Amino acid sequence: MTTRQIHLAAFLIAGPCAHSHALWRHPLGEPGFLDPDYYRRIAQSLERGRFDLAFFADRLAMSSTYGGSIETGARYGDQDSARLDPLLVTSLMAASTRHLGLAATRSTTYFPPFQVARAFASLDHLSGGRAGWNVVTSVNDSEARNHGIELHLGHDARYDSADEFMEVVFRLWESWDADALILDRENGIFADPDRIHPIAYRGAHLRCEGPLNVPRSPQGRPVIIQAGASARGKDFAARWAEVIFALQPTTAGMKKFYADVKSAVERAGRARDACQILAAVMPFVGASRAEAEEKLAVHDELVQPLVGLSTMSSHMNVDFSRFPLDEPLGNVDVQGMQGALAAVRSVDAEGTLPLSEIGKRYGQSVLVPRVVGTAADVADQLEAWFREDAADGFMVSPAYLPGGFDDFIDGVVPELQRRELFRREYAGRTLRENLFGVSLDCMQDMTRHQQQSAADPGRIG
Ligand SMILES: Cc1cc2nc3c(=O)[nH]c(=O)nc-3n(C[C@H](O)[C@H](O)[C@H](O)COP(=O)(O)O)c2cc1C
Repeated sequence: MTTRQIHLAAFLIAGPCAHSHALWRHPLGEPGFLDPDYYRRIAQSLERGRFDLAFFADRLAMSSTYGGSIETGARYGDQDSARLDPLLVTSLMAASTRHLGLAATRSTTYFPPFQVARAFASLDHLSGGRAGWNVVTSVNDSEARNHGIELHLGHDARYDSADEFMEVVFRLWESWDADALILDRENGIFADPDRIHPIAYRGAHLRCEGPLNVPRSPQGRPVIIQAGASARGKDFAARWAEVIFALQPTTAGMKKFYADVKSAVERAGRARDACQILAAVMPFVGASRAEAEEKLAVHDELVQPLVGLSTMSSHMNVDFSRFPLDEPLGNVDVQGMQGALAAVRSVDAEGTLPLSEIGKRYGQSVLVPRVVGTAADVADQLEAWFREDAADGFMVSPAYLPGGFDDFIDGVVPELQRRELFRREYAGRTLRENLFGVSLDCMQDMTRHQQQSAADPGRIG
C-alpha cells in the first residue's frame, strides 16, 4: 500500500447547479450544461489537476415539493430544475480523458438491477476501468410519481431493498469468469459457456436470473460510492462502499462522521482503509485573502432567496413553503435525506436561525463548508482535516463552470503536491488502483484477511 495521500473528486450535476445555486448565473461561468464541449472542458481540467474522479449526482424529477409545484425550482433554477442523464455524460467524458475516474449516480429504488449492472459494466469497458457508481435510494415523492408510484418508499425500507439490489448486481458482475471470453476467430469460439453463470437470485424484494450480457469488466466491478448519513445509511455505506461522501458543515461533524463510518466499516468485517471518506468542500481561492473574500461575496449575491428552500424541500421530501420564513425550523419528520436535516441542525445548534436564513445558506452551498483564502490558506485547511482524521480526501464543489476548478487546480493542487500530500502523476491504470493502489482481487484478499483475523485473532498472518 502507498503512503497515505489526499484523494480528490469533483462534485458535478449535469444541470444549472452543483451545490452552488449561483453556478449557472456566475459571470465567470457559462450555462453550458447542454453542450458536450462544456463537459469535455471540465473533464480535461480535472485530469490536468490529477483528480481521482469526476462525480455526477442525480435526481429523477424536477422539484415539485416546495409549494406543491415546479414553479419556484423552475423559475430560479434549483438543483433539480434540469439534469442530463449522468451515465451518458460520463461516457462522453471517457472519450476525452485517459486517467480520470468517472462516477455517475443510479437509484436502487427506480432502476432494475440488471439495467444498472449492465450500464456500469459497459462504462467500465468503454473507459478502460474508470467507472464508479454512486448508489442512492432516491429521496422524494416527485421521483416516485414519475415511476407510477404515489408515495416514495420509507427511509429505512429503501435501504433494506437496496441491500438485496447490491447482492444482485455484485453477482451479475461476477457472472462472467475473467477468462470466459475466448474470441478464437479461427475456430469460431466466442466464449466458454462453462465460465458464464446464471445467478438465479430469489430475494424478498428482487428476482434475477442472469447471467449479465456484458463480459467481466476491467475493474471487475465499478468502484462503489455512497453517501448515507443516517444510522441506517452509514451501515449500508460501510457494508458496500469504497468511497463515502461526507457533507458535514462543521469540523466536529466531519470528525464524528469519519470515526462513525470507519468503525462501521470494521464492524462490517472490512479494513478501515478499504474505503476512502471524501468530505465536501467549496473553495474560493484568491491571490490574497481579500480577493478570495470578494469572490465569495460576488457568488453569494447571485443566490435567489427561495431557490435553496426549493432544493431543501426536494432533498428532505418536505414542503417548507408551509413553514414561516421568519421563524426557526421546529420539529420536522424527514423521510427523504435525514442527513440533510442533521446538517441543518449542525449549523443552527441553538435553533434560532430563521428558515429564510437556512434557505439562503442552502442556496449558497447546500451547507457544504466554504474554504476561503489564498492557495496556501486552502491547502492548510485541507491538510489539517486530512491529518486530524476528518477526511481521507475532498469532494471539491465548484462556484461556476466550466472553469470553476481552475483556481484550485493551478493554486491548491501544486501546493498539496509540494507538501507531498497529493499525487503528481496517476500511478494506477484503473480508478480503484488510483484510489487504493491495488486491484479488486487484492481488495477482496484484504477483506478476507480482515474477516479471518477478526474471527480468529490468534491466527494473525
Ligand atoms: C455528496 C453527496 C452526494 C449525493 N448525491 C445524491 C444523488 O445524486 N442523488 C440522491 O438521490 N441522493 C444523493 N445524496 C443523498 C444520499 O444518498 C443520502 O440520501 C443522504 O446523504 C442522506 O443520507 P440518509 O439517506 O442516510 O439519510 C448525496 C449525498 C451527498 C452527501
